[in-house]
Amino acid sequence: MKQKLAIFASGAGSNAKKIIEHFKNSPVAAVALVVCNKPHAGVLDIAAAAEIETALIERDQYKKDGYAQFLKEKGIDFVILAGFLWKIPQPLIDAFPRGIINIHPALLPKYGGKGMYGAFVHEAVIAAKDAVSGITIHYVDEHYDHGDVIFQATCDIAPGDTPDQLAEKVHQLEHEHFPRVIEQLLTGK
Ligand code: GRF
Repeated sequence: MKQKLAIFASGAGSNAKKIIEHFKNSPVAAVALVVCNKPHAGVLDIAAAAEIETALIERDQYKKDGYAQFLKEKGIDFVILAGFLWKIPQPLIDAFPRGIINIHPALLPKYGGKGMYGAFVHEAVIAAKDAVSGITIHYVDEHYDHGDVIFQATCDIAPGDTPDQLAEKVHQLEHEHFPRVIEQLLTGK
């Protein structure tokens, strides 16, 4: 039976789009739900265009049970965080053991944790004069950007690269690898 995926995203949603497209005609899984906490996020338009159900969530209920019961009622098997910034509450972690993953736009354990998201990450990497950055796909636990690492890919940083240019390189890596890594996890291959 096809596995039902929920994507949690609150930004532009370019990763969500790639994942939706990847699983569109897949026998393995389908994106069944997009969960978002921002009423005007681009990801909502992407979900609507793909005719995927969306859920706009609010903080009080989220803090209570992370919408775990709602996700179970929807038959969700696996949760993917793709640009979602709220910390995952314990009841949601407990409801999906080894069933929630996140993508982070740097090579964890460097440049992770609360407040390290989006442009802040790339600005910090450039300021440190690192020669490489990349992406990390990892299981989610109760700490920000902390669970076991599943996959990393790297990109070179050229002298003079700006945070925006690095963000673009990292986004390309995300789009190339995230859907494929999800499929591998789901099939165990
Ligand atoms: C990605 O860079 C991801 O690593 C981070 O948030 C960003 C989301 O970008 N967690 P998009 O909304 O998928 O374009």
